[in-house]
Amino acid sequence: MTNKLRYFIGNWKMFGDFGSFKIIHKINQFSHESKNQFKKKIILCVPNTLIYFFKKKLKSKIISLGVQNCHYHQGYGPFTGSVNASMLKKAGAEFIILGHSENRSEGETNQLIKKKIKSALKEKLNIIFCIGETFKEKKKGKTFSILKKQIRSSLEKKFNISKIIFAYEPVWSIGTNKIPKMNELENTIKFIKNELKKTFKTKKSPKVLYGGSVNDKNICLFSLISEIDGFLIGGASQYPKKFIDIVKNYYK
Ligand code: PGA
Repeated sequence: MTNKLRYFIGNWKMFGDFGSFKIIHKINQFSHESKNQFKKKIILCVPNTLIYFFKKKLKSKIISLGVQNCHYHQGYGPFTGSVNASMLKKAGAEFIILGHSENRSEGETNQLIKKKIKSALKEKLNIIFCIGETFKEKKKGKTFSILKKQIRSSLEKKFNISKIIFAYEPVWSIGTNKIPKMNELENTIKFIKNELKKTFKTKKSPKVLYGGSVNDKNICLFSLISEIDGFLIGGASQYPKKFIDIVKNYYK
């Protein structure tokens, strides 16, 4: 079993209401009970409507809470229906997912994501920055060039890289039950880490997670790749048992 810190991050997407607190409570309890057993960090990224409520209700919190997107604008402004990083921070978010492919497919560009990262960093939020290729790009052998472009056009060298966790999420594996071949995944994670070390001129790479159809069964395969620092878990994070089993089975 590894003694390196591993991240298990839930991305609830558009799911949940006030009653979903029981899910958070169960996962928090598990995290407490197993705190000396596994070296892990659990973060749940929930809808904006729930962050303040969960934060207040969760006593002796061992897990962290985050959100899933923000507007790029720093202050208040005429942006109907939007919330900025500062509002989310004040509501209790510690982490924020940015660059998720479900938002990229709605028109988010690398340039727009960069503005969002900048504003979230200003608010001292920790960022979970998603990158990944589409199936078409993979077929054309473009995976590495796409990842490189996503990294280089959304990040500036002066960014505080220690506040950014990277999540490699191949678009074709999100919510599809399809996962990459393990040797390909290992190479891709290594590629991302090398790219980050080169770009930011650091000896140690930032954390790089994997996301896309992670479940309590296939986690055993992923656990064999030591370069993966953790997981971004969508669908399965909406069920406490499934999420907890992913963590437990990772360490089996
Ligand atoms: P999934 O989603 O686990 O349901 O594939 C992952 C994600 O969207 O982050």
